[in-house]
Amino acid sequence: MWSDFTPLDIEAVRFEAIHSSGDGLGPVDLRVEPGEHVLVIGPSGSGKSTLLQALSGIIPHAVPAQVSGSIRICGTDTQESDVPSISRMLSVVAQNPSSSVCLPDVADEVAFPLENHAWPPSTIGTAVEATLELVGAASLVGRRSATLSGGETQRVALAAALVSEPRVVILDEPTSMLDPEGIASVRLAVDTAAARASTIVLVEHRLDEYAGARGIGGLPARTVVIGRGGVIAHDGPTASVLLENAAALQEAGCWLPLEAELAALTGSAGGVENAAVAQAVAALGRGAVRLAGGRTAGCQPGDHDPQDHGADAREPGGPSLFARDLDIVAGGAPRRRRSAADPAPVLRDVSFGLRGGELVALLGRNGCGKSSLLRTLAGLARPGSGRVEGPRPGLVFQNPEHQFAQTTVRREIGHGLGAGAAARVDDLATRFDLVDHLEHSPFRLSGGQQRRLSLAAMLAHERPFLLADEPAFGLDRRSSIAAMRELERTAASGCGVLFSSHELRAVWAYANRVLVLGDGYLLADTTPFELLRDDALLESAGLERTGLLDWLVERRLPAGHARRILRELDDVATRVPA
Ligand SMILES: Nc1ncnc2c1ncn2[C@@H]1O[C@H](COP(=O)(O)OP(=O)(O)OP(=O)(O)O)[C@@H](O)[C@H]1O
Ligand SMILES: [Mg+2]
Repeated sequence: MWSDFTPLDIEAVRFEAIHSSGDGLGPVDLRVEPGEHVLVIGPSGSGKSTLLQALSGIIPHAVPAQVSGSIRICGTDTQESDVPSISRMLSVVAQNPSSSVCLPDVADEVAFPLENHAWPPSTIGTAVEATLELVGAASLVGRRSATLSGGETQRVALAAALVSEPRVVILDEPTSMLDPEGIASVRLAVDTAAARASTIVLVEHRLDEYAGARGIGGLPARTVVIGRGGVIAHDGPTASVLLENAAALQEAGCWLPLEAELAALTGSAGGVENAAVAQAVAALGRGAVRLAGGRTAGCQPGDHDPQDHGADAREPGGPSLFARDLDIVAGGAPRRRRSAADPAPVLRDVSFGLRGGELVALLGRNGCGKSSLLRTLAGLARPGSGRVEGPRPGLVFQNPEHQFAQTTVRREIGHGLGAGAAARVDDLATRFDLVDHLEHSPFRLSGGQQRRLSLAAMLAHERPFLLADEPAFGLDRRSSIAAMRELERTAASGCGVLFSSHELRAVWAYANRVLVLGDGYLLADTTPFELLRDDALLESAGLERTGLLDWLVERRLPAGHARRILRELDDVATRVPA
């Protein structure tokens, strides 16, 4: 019986020459006991997803790789078994949900694992509905998969992984595209699976949002850190792993929950509840402060923040892109005359202008119409009514691989640039940390690398306006800050940038204006600072302040001061150790 075996038992596993540099990954030894709940963190490219693919048998059965050592799931060796057999014991929510949702209808997608495992047909419908309900997606049961938004797809992928009540559940960044309600649903779904004695392995970046008000106590009890080269750098109780290694984890590029991030900064635990830590954080926005390990951070005399004049707004210039009375139809309006039978627009009466030099965030719940609005502005979808005026902007898609058309990273960045492209390609590859991948296929890059490539390829064209759909989702801390700074730099060069996001912290730190969508309308066109202080607006748009943002708002710091704190924390996180 499976329940007699250790759910997950990895011994001396090594992947030969799998890394793009030609190096191997591992060795890894890891044993996870029944009902254990493990958080796995590690910088981008450390091999987390590779290890997870080996657990499900995708490596080596579908993706060839030379693997040594043994991986046993509930006693079965994954290299000697096959993927269908392993899937009876283990389910995976893949990093990119759109690549795991494969059937045309949502109900069929979630029923698929049960049909494969020969569940009695009379039980399948009830199980599908109950699981969709559990992940906050009951309303999607009759939908076509191709029409789902990014966050909706992520919920359906989670439901399909949980529906068969597997003994081992592997979740690879299940909240990367979710709004706060979606994250709460994932937490509930994971807790429910854990209560059924499933063993859960969670790879997650958005630790503050996932943990909620309980902070580190809201995370899985055990944490495993995969370090460079794919070896286990730390393994133990979550609080001690994160707090004792905070500075090293931050330097490696990992996201940390707030308490650990501030421990990396000050050397003290307790987060903003600890008066000394709170004082050090508040001082960050005022001048240089001494940090743990004798380092310093904060504004140095003569430092100049191009965005920050003590408030969110600044004087933009250049040409304008206008949305005039737009009705946004999901999937684009048909060319024929509209009929009463057509579905209602997802957004109505949307009007705003975007000027050169602005960095504007587009916010709202999953499915509120952010991607649909961006596609309409880019001329890829027809509006139901109204018009877009101005030069055609470039668009970076929510799923980067949907826009790759070339065989190498070098060609993808240089596509359509003509003479003189080489220097520009090299510059962008350096800025987006893609130099080592220039001759690789865009389709063989990691999720984070694909995201950086899609931004680099679009910026290469130097259009007057850039639209970016969730440009930083799924990136490690260092890459996500780098992506936001590239957008800021693009705006500073005169381009008007509009990006959608679920990351309020990054929005507050970098955007100078926000457009807030909700209830089918543009609810507000304001500054990040005003939005963060407006509880009613946050609630109607389904947005939530997490720990640090709450603290900054409660302290009633001036806009510029609060933003400087956020930016300084990003500076500390991205500083390369001496
Ligand atoms: N081709 C389509 N046909 C029908 N409905 C669609 C289509 N594309 C999207 N939709 C629906 O339109 C609504 C808006 O989708 P959109 O992708 O714009 O949301 P979003 O705000 O970008 O969400 P997310 O934060 O999850 O990415 C959603 O309910 C979505 O399911
Ligand atoms: Mg979207």
